[in-house]
Amino acid sequence: MIRTSQRKPFRATVTVPGDKSISHRSIMFGAVANGTTEIEGFLPGADCLSTIRCFQQMGVEIERLSETAVRVRGRGFEGLKEAASPLDVGNSGTTIRLMLGLLSGVPIYSTLIGDESIARRPMKRVVDPLRKMGARIDGREDGRFTPIGVRGGALQGITYESPVASAQVKSCLLLAGLNAEGDTVVREPAQSRDHTERMLPGFGVELEANGTEVRIKGGQTLTGTKVRVPGDISSAAFILAAALMVPGSQVTVEHVGLNPTRTGILDAFRMMGAEVRTEITAHWCNEPVGNVTVSCNDLHGVEIGGALIPRLIDEIPILAVVATQAHGTTVIKDAQELKVKETNRIATTAKELRKLGASVEETEDGLIIEGGTQLSGGHCHSHGDHRIGMAMAIAGFAACGDVVVEGTEAMDVSFPGFAGLIAQL
Ligand code: S3P
Repeated sequence: MIRTSQRKPFRATVTVPGDKSISHRSIMFGAVANGTTEIEGFLPGADCLSTIRCFQQMGVEIERLSETAVRVRGRGFEGLKEAASPLDVGNSGTTIRLMLGLLSGVPIYSTLIGDESIARRPMKRVVDPLRKMGARIDGREDGRFTPIGVRGGALQGITYESPVASAQVKSCLLLAGLNAEGDTVVREPAQSRDHTERMLPGFGVELEANGTEVRIKGGQTLTGTKVRVPGDISSAAFILAAALMVPGSQVTVEHVGLNPTRTGILDAFRMMGAEVRTEITAHWCNEPVGNVTVSCNDLHGVEIGGALIPRLIDEIPILAVVATQAHGTTVIKDAQELKVKETNRIATTAKELRKLGASVEETEDGLIIEGGTQLSGGHCHSHGDHRIGMAMAIAGFAACGDVVVEGTEAMDVSFPGFAGLIAQL
């Protein structure tokens, strides 16, 4: 349980845990590379630990050198051995979808399972194109849901026009493409996060990426490397939002990933009238890294949609919280993907915010929030969704009573130490 309440203006400089997407990929690519991969700044969140455990079950030697340093001794795709029990991805959609692609081309059998949330999340978006490549996959309701089994084998490259802008779909197919005959091309309706495309060349893989199209040649191997993981901008978003909830506050988050496919939330805050300054100080593994400073001004409502959505998809719950404090109406549209996240985030965001007296309407593809509301205290629940729990805890910063959030274990999925960090603000 976390309890938050109205804050006095604060100034703070903080760092946040490592990027979840990049941490997952560093383990997966290291596990199928030849040689050692050393990872620094790894996110020790529950999701990434699930990825580590799955590869350990397949015989890959992965050692935690410290909380955030990991050594992976890969022995190529051939180094993966059949696990004696199901691979449990826990709550992690990224783990299951990327692993389905990776395992489709490796000649072993695997069963993948996860928690109740994973059991409700759609797998057909990856199973259908993988089957087109020749993958042998079966699962509950013809592979719509977990448990899901994959018997890896020979694959054929395809050109796939994805109906959704999803980095999990794109990355899954690129990983399958590594073991397919010929080229695999993935096109998406808007560009999703491009961490796979940025990281694979560091492991010696050649690919061509240009915006919404990526092409990869089959039959490539990976070579172990060093990976330094920047702070997760999705976690930073909660801290930046905290400053926006309390007029007169300013916060800087250091060493955070500033990949343009992820910084949509900064653009949205700027559109609302916030002062947002970024400074790129380094590039780690082809990813821009730097500092972000946000100060609280008068905010106003905005309309968010189109190609901006994939660039801030995970930040919509916290954006909705900030919108309650802006003057006027905020409209979030084109975000139907929210319905298939850890929870239906259109429904859970609206439900939880209403408990604090916010005026929020659910639409087919987003939310409409009437801003300028004095939030009240209330009793909220994460619904087992890390980002819903954290968003509601931050809402408490502008509430006139205590906000109690239950189900806070979920926050460990992506942001271990969240409660301690916000207590310091
Ligand atoms: C992720 C992609 C996104 C995002 C998720 C992480 C990734 O999901 O919501 O938190 O690491 O590739 P989709 O690909 O389903 O949009």
